[in-house]
Amino acid sequence: MIESKDSLFNNFSSGTKKFISANDVQDIGALIQKGLEYKANPFKHRSLGAGKRIGCLFLNPSMRTRLSTQIAAQNLGMEAIIFNVGQEGWALEFEEGSVMNGTSVEHIKDAAPVLGKYFNILAVRTFPSLKNREEDYSELYMNQFVKYAGIPVVSLESATLHPLQSLADLITITETYLNPISGARPKIVLSWAPHVKPLPQCVANSFSQWINAWGEADFIITHPPGYELNEEFTKGATININQDDALGDADFVYVKNWSSYTNYGEILCDDENWMLTTDKLKVTNNAKIMHCLPVRRNIELSDEILDSKNSIVTQQAGNRVWAAQAVLHTLLTERGELDR
Ligand code: CP
Repeated sequence: MIESKDSLFNNFSSGTKKFISANDVQDIGALIQKGLEYKANPFKHRSLGAGKRIGCLFLNPSMRTRLSTQIAAQNLGMEAIIFNVGQEGWALEFEEGSVMNGTSVEHIKDAAPVLGKYFNILAVRTFPSLKNREEDYSELYMNQFVKYAGIPVVSLESATLHPLQSLADLITITETYLNPISGARPKIVLSWAPHVKPLPQCVANSFSQWINAWGEADFIITHPPGYELNEEFTKGATININQDDALGDADFVYVKNWSSYTNYGEILCDDENWMLTTDKLKVTNNAKIMHCLPVRRNIELSDEILDSKNSIVTQQAGNRVWAAQAVLHTLLTERGELDR
């Protein structure tokens, strides 16, 4: 097992224990290796989390994130309790100082500390509204959980980021890309794809943030004009609005739709030519195709690609377990050791 010299996560000494962004991670390479070690030996620490409990709160739907986090916790001996807040819980208020005369029943200032008494780790999924960019990008909901829960908080996808997905993506790239002779860095292309609904930018933001922070790949983003992502996350990537050019010699193509950041939440392009096809892959280095799932077949990605040997989307989703297990292990063991 990888033993970090200092800490894999930041902010432990200040008491803020969280995994909500690549910025919370000091050593991405070591975290990837920890995930791969769990993949080889899932039950290595099957008693570590005995007597400890993780609460997984879903304000929005999920399949992969919910199940992989639950399995990861159980592999470490932790109990995982799932709570679908969006369907089963009281409607929460997140604004400070609000007069609660509307539909919200309970303030996060009251609810989060209670959750902090029930659990040792809190994990939260909360999507953006896609109506108010400033509000979504302030990450008010996730930050309020961090502020008031009093226990470590893990993002299961927030308004702008999806860190457990991105860690699984890097685990997948690391185990798939083998180039021992030349030692060349992989060329990774994030390619926008059409969709029938406006989707958040969080998977694309997060993938960009993690690839850039990792620093082990040549990274290109291709999208139609108007789909530029927030530079906070893409800084360091090459942006090319010509998809055919961008795909040249790619080792990995990560396909994902997102709605416009500049014309916030809008669909600006429905050109089906942006959907990846086998023909388009001819200019790549027999690229592996990635997608976080769920995927709209023959809208975002064609059957011929998804059903081909180039697709590694199932492997990628499988690796969500090892990403979650690496993160939970780190929270359970590092110098900000859980005290309950
Ligand atoms: N990729 C992902 O987060 O899948 P779910 O929405 O099913 O959790």
